[in-house]
Amino acid sequence: MINIRDLHHNYKDYDGKVVTIGGWVRSIRDSKTFGFMVVNDGTFFEPVQVVYADKLDNFETICKLNVGAAVIVTGQVKVTPEMKQPFEIHADEVVIEGESTPDYPLQKKRHSFEYLRTISHLRPRTNTFQAVFRVRSLTAYAIHKFFQERDFVYVHTPLITGSDCEGAGEMFQVTTMDLSNVPTKDGKVDYSQDFFGKPTNLTVSGQLNGETYAMAFKNIYTFGPTFRAENSNTTRHAAEFWMIEPEIAFADLTDDMMLAESMLKYVISYVLEHAPEEMAFFNQFVDKGLIERLEHVVNSDFGRITYTDAITELEKHNDEFDYKVYWGCDLQTEHERYLTEKIFKRPVFVTDYPKEIKAFYMKLNEDGKTVAAMDCLVPGIGEIIGGSQREDDYEVLKNRMAECGLKEEDYEFYLDLRKYGSARHAGFGLGFERCVMYLTGMGNIRDVIPFPRTVGNCDL
Ligand code: 4AD
Ligand code: MG
Repeated sequence: MINIRDLHHNYKDYDGKVVTIGGWVRSIRDSKTFGFMVVNDGTFFEPVQVVYADKLDNFETICKLNVGAAVIVTGQVKVTPEMKQPFEIHADEVVIEGESTPDYPLQKKRHSFEYLRTISHLRPRTNTFQAVFRVRSLTAYAIHKFFQERDFVYVHTPLITGSDCEGAGEMFQVTTMDLSNVPTKDGKVDYSQDFFGKPTNLTVSGQLNGETYAMAFKNIYTFGPTFRAENSNTTRHAAEFWMIEPEIAFADLTDDMMLAESMLKYVISYVLEHAPEEMAFFNQFVDKGLIERLEHVVNSDFGRITYTDAITELEKHNDEFDYKVYWGCDLQTEHERYLTEKIFKRPVFVTDYPKEIKAFYMKLNEDGKTVAAMDCLVPGIGEIIGGSQREDDYEVLKNRMAECGLKEEDYEFYLDLRKYGSARHAGFGLGFERCVMYLTGMGNIRDVIPFPRTVGNCDL
């Protein structure tokens, strides 16, 4: 059996040869003595047209097949320069592997993304989701390739953890206790009875563990699932999403931004080169101008602006915002998008945020008010990357932790890194789904993750 991808790429070599393909029927129609069946096996964006005739023993049965059926077709490849499709297969045999039913939910028409979300087990069989999930897969590969080519070590950080990296308290608790009958001690939940003997949660970020490996391997990256119980029902927040977190030692915030910029450019170029059909599809049906925009990003420098300057710029447009900006405020999506879409018209790094709105581990700047943080904002989405140089001074870090109400005993391992050979280091987190949204032009995070988990939704 061969893959339809191979057939499409080399159909001229296959002309006149007999091949076998296996796939699912996309559409089927017949006249009295012959019929056409469009079959896709998922290995390539384009399906294959199969011609079957009444010389086949099971001709009548084939004619009655429903869309969605699984078939194995053996037949001769015929190049058809005069027709819309470049070639077709003239069937010598059609084996019906699995019939479908007339109520198959994916009929030959355009279904809305909202409807397709209700059948997330079947939507990967549609053109759009074939393209999205192939690009998602390629993007993951490109990211690994980028880091591996630069000798970064891939570190697997734990998913169950006792710490809250971002300090935002947006965690899913992990417990084996029966919640209807939780043991208490002095009116408080007694976690000593629990599996780990203390409260634990699903990780919001692998960074703290990642840092420990950067202090041993110099350059590392993580790539895994992260979980956030943020109660934000938006098109760019998921409760379970994947994050890529590189961490580089003997490096500062500028090195960090250079790494982020070259990684994004590499990934964009890789996907444009290796998924041309899928990208052309997005460009035509999902987001007109996508390819040109992405090519422009690869060939130009990202913008850079400090938070303080960004606020000065944004304040001039306060009448256009739902939330008015002021120094000290957290930037909302509307502000992020304004900066990147209206002011810079390309990706931009915003740096040096007030310490109050950022996590405890970020390096305090000399002004004592801001930290060496950077967010990378892109048109259409807003924040795609969040990163920083890390506080590497033992005493300053201890003070920051106290300010943020963190208990030293919970972060002993983290403080040790500042005690035993502390080194300047920095890192960032790329939201993988937001990256896939950016590459495909898809507008909703629910449509770039196979089985999305969002507020109120954990189906399938
Ligand atoms: O900015 P964040 O919270 O940064 C961190 O977690 C750091 N520990 C990263 C680091 O320095 N190693 O998250 C990083 C990125 C965001 O820029 C965004 O792209 C994505 O993760 N992200 C989400 N993606 C989907 N759904 C959510 N709920 C997300 N929250 C963050
Ligand atoms: Mg962030």
